[in-house]
Amino acid sequence: MSRSILAFLVSALLCAAVPAAAQAPMQWQTGRAAAAIEARVERLIRQMTLEEKVGQLHLYGRREGFDYGEIRAGRIGNVMNFVDPAEVAAVQKAARESRLKIPLLIGLDAVHGVSTYFPLPLGQAATFNPALVEEAALWTGREARALGINWTFAPMVDMGRDPRWGRLLEGAGEDVFLSRIMAAARTRGYQAGGAAATVKHFVGYGAGEAGRDYNTAWIPAEQLHDIHLPPFRASIDAGALSVMAAFNSVNGVPATAHREMLTDLLRRNWGFRGLVVSDFGSIPELMAHGIAADEAEAARKALAAGIDIDMMGFVYSKHLAAEVRAGRAPIAQVDEAVRRVLRVKFHARMDEIADIDPRTAESALQSPPALDAARRAARESIILLENDGILPLDPARVRSVAVIGALSRPDQERVWTDPAGVPRKPIEAMDAALARLLGQGVRVAFQPGVSTYCGKEFGDRAAAIEAAAAADVIVAKLGEDCEFMGEGASRTRLTLPGVQDQLLDELIGTGKPVVLVLATGRPLVLSHLKGRVAAIVQTFHAGSEGRAAIAEVLTGAFNPSGKTPMSFPRSVGQIPVYYDHLPTGRPETPGRFRYESIFMDESNLPLYPFGFGLSYTRFGFSDLRIETPVVAAGGALTASVTVANLGGREGQEVAQLYIRQPMARISRPVRQLKGFQKIALKPGESRKVTFTVPATELGYHDAQGRYVVEPGRFEIHVGNSSLAELKGEFQLARPQGGR
Ligand code: NOJ
Repeated sequence: MSRSILAFLVSALLCAAVPAAAQAPMQWQTGRAAAAIEARVERLIRQMTLEEKVGQLHLYGRREGFDYGEIRAGRIGNVMNFVDPAEVAAVQKAARESRLKIPLLIGLDAVHGVSTYFPLPLGQAATFNPALVEEAALWTGREARALGINWTFAPMVDMGRDPRWGRLLEGAGEDVFLSRIMAAARTRGYQAGGAAATVKHFVGYGAGEAGRDYNTAWIPAEQLHDIHLPPFRASIDAGALSVMAAFNSVNGVPATAHREMLTDLLRRNWGFRGLVVSDFGSIPELMAHGIAADEAEAARKALAAGIDIDMMGFVYSKHLAAEVRAGRAPIAQVDEAVRRVLRVKFHARMDEIADIDPRTAESALQSPPALDAARRAARESIILLENDGILPLDPARVRSVAVIGALSRPDQERVWTDPAGVPRKPIEAMDAALARLLGQGVRVAFQPGVSTYCGKEFGDRAAAIEAAAAADVIVAKLGEDCEFMGEGASRTRLTLPGVQDQLLDELIGTGKPVVLVLATGRPLVLSHLKGRVAAIVQTFHAGSEGRAAIAEVLTGAFNPSGKTPMSFPRSVGQIPVYYDHLPTGRPETPGRFRYESIFMDESNLPLYPFGFGLSYTRFGFSDLRIETPVVAAGGALTASVTVANLGGREGQEVAQLYIRQPMARISRPVRQLKGFQKIALKPGESRKVTFTVPATELGYHDAQGRYVVEPGRFEIHVGNSSLAELKGEFQLARPQGGR
């Protein structure tokens, strides 16, 4: 079959599985359509009462006894956390019965899925496969839309450099280049699926001191512009319709009242025309931050800074109209906020899209192609960190397997934001999937060992140890779940929660080889396990199809290809540990000497570096060619490398290109990712991979926030992790006429 016929059939199949209401891509309109929207928005603003305007700036959550009359009266213009299609249809109907018939934004945190769960975003980043990540967001957007939800509070693009922070599971990890690519892919996917994306949390939420959630962030201008802002910019350039402000303060100013960020930078410099929503209750929190004396002042400050919608703070709805009437808040600020909200609603054509039919809405959930995408994403998100050769499990040698750990079998993957009440099919248990793949000749037993998914307490511990001791191989699925990951779940000890470390020690004590399968929301400290377990397989909760995908990896039906999206620390004391740090005047040398920038009791290196992951085959990198030894100021670097599969199995590898400017006006990182490509190779096959890096990507921001590209010598490193060893170099020429 030709490629184009195949592509046609696949897209026909995808469309057939999605009802019409769900096929509503959301994007900024251009040309005449955009002009007509602007005119319509202005007309509406002229018609609206002050109360109706404030209603558009109010976001109210679902609760028992919700009063639909408030929507009809125009006092509630946006809602969140409605997932029951009958209720969603009812709220939207109430909006249509209001005087001006302005559609509601109906928001939901669709972090890694609605009904079909994909790996957590950190796991999606581990795929290094943006097309797959976009597809995951597309299905999530479609499933949201099928239920009538037209707005998602995702993607989170906060940089994750501190594994103590419980929320890094929602982002793409430590690297700014990878985060930018994933931010754009997820934004495109959600909006193509029919849910307006909200890029969050603007800005610096991931940089809270000590990794403690909601904590203060101090970020110098260079880091703000080079590290924290670029993923937001990527999402906005990809068309994101909304932005969410962060809870924390940045350089002393709460993000919710940060006019310099929300208005000067986001709107004025970047030209963002969409809406900004506060985080949950973060406007009244301005009082706790100590910059507002009362709710009314908090409301005024947030509005003046550039927050258009108050999420569950109830201070716009309570105070704004009175503040305007008393002359303390300018009506022009209210109008501007309303303008942005209406603009998003009409650009996204929220009033033109047909309402859902509550009787059939749920039939679009967990469709076969969505589950297929979830399986493919799950497979590629799995990272093989250690393997002494035990994997893939060989049915000719392994006659019995004991699967231990409650996480092998929860009914569903659950993250704290996952919408309750959305129907989902049961997930195949990991032991069932292993038994299916290993065949009848292999006995597969299961014992949870612990009583909950969090592993807080032992369950039938004796039965678990007995089953383990009786098997040829132990597969222990342990990790973090429930309250140990996600919002408000910062940790200081990055061990397995509860009694799981103890359980693991006892499993190792049986003398049987242990394959440790981790399902966590962050990199844990694994140093004490190196050499004591036969293999470590890292997953970031792999989603609806995760257990089956893990079984495929364990049995070799799928050759693992995931790469770490973050450095794994050796100990908590090493944090922060990330690969693109600056050099020091006294770097760590092989002999290690006291007066170097080192720890007395720990190496500087992470346990597993960024971009690392093993395979069941071996890849070789050779023949690095710099096709452009001199790059013109407005030009691009072109470099190529040959990647060869030197082993006996088909597999995928991620070729990674890092650069360094060894000498510049300010100290530059020891290396920075500037390109990656994931390729599949058959045994014995090799392929030339070509990277192109525009010269504009080679600069940095100075302390004044100005972007500078300095000509001079650059080094290149190419390989399959941030330790990439192949080296080359090029010159970046001065601009013509430049000095
Ligand atoms: C608080 C979180 O910080 C934010 O990301 C989320 O969208 C809201 N809660 C709504 O659930």
